[in-house]
Amino acid sequence: MIFYFTATGNSLYVAKQLDTDRYSIAQEIHKENREYKAEKIGIVCPLFEFEMPNIVKEFIKGSTFETEYFYIIVTYGMHDGGVAKRSKEFMDSLGKKVDYINTIKMHDNAIIVFDMDEQRTLEEGKKVDEHIALLKKDIEEGKEEIQFARKEELEFQAEYRKMIEKTGPAYSFPLYKVTDACVGCGTCTKVCPGGCIQIKDKKVIYDYTNCVNCMACAQACPTMAIQFATIKEPNPKARYRNVHISLKEIIDSNIQK
Ligand SMILES: Cc1cc2nc3c(=O)[nH]c(=O)nc-3n(C[C@H](O)[C@H](O)[C@H](O)COP(=O)(O)O)c2cc1C
Repeated sequence: MIFYFTATGNSLYVAKQLDTDRYSIAQEIHKENREYKAEKIGIVCPLFEFEMPNIVKEFIKGSTFETEYFYIIVTYGMHDGGVAKRSKEFMDSLGKKVDYINTIKMHDNAIIVFDMDEQRTLEEGKKVDEHIALLKKDIEEGKEEIQFARKEELEFQAEYRKMIEKTGPAYSFPLYKVTDACVGCGTCTKVCPGGCIQIKDKKVIYDYTNCVNCMACAQACPTMAIQFATIKEPNPKARYRNVHISLKEIIDSNIQK
């Protein structure tokens, strides 16, 4: 049994190779009774500002897992910031057991920092499939390990925290603006895991109360009409979705009923 959260498909791509019994956290989180039982239970999610996304933490907090083996895999793009160590501390603070935490470097989908076209050129060097095979082997063998947090990564994360304390959050809401390129197709409404977007009279209405800042809407917009409101993007004309994952799979994972 595996639970995943995804905006652009990286975490789903990993989850698909680890288990066939898969559940999307964006949908599962709405269930009142979240008691799960399986021989092995895993979580796969992206890294957001060196942490597991809040929606994932909330999901874990409000769920019970009866299992022999609980594991967490965090997908990231550039710096893991020692997330495995903090995720273990998070699990300890909840009194929940975790046997294995690891990370995997993939395409970095943070469009406010990176040009998605440039990021594509780095993908091959990240050897994603080889790394997934190693994770899979560890999990199959029931390996018990919390990934070692490298000193430079912990320092990098600490510096970032310091900067945020000084300058305020990196993201201010409303995050997005919608340009005239919008054709009112509604793709954004379907990929948003927070159910934040509606289309009325072919216009986007974005209520950011539940926005988790995953950027799925901006990434999936076919006309690239969703852009950051206050932050200058390196390339507003480049967007990303994992090549192995279809738009339908992102929609099926995130659509709010
Ligand atoms: C809001 C946000 C914050 C991110 N923060 C980090 C980060 O701190 N370090 C990093 O290496 N990648 C970061 N990323 C990149 C994603 O973690 C990475 O691309 C991930 O694999 C995306 O997974 P997904 O395709 O399943 O959504 C961030 C992405 C977003 C949208």
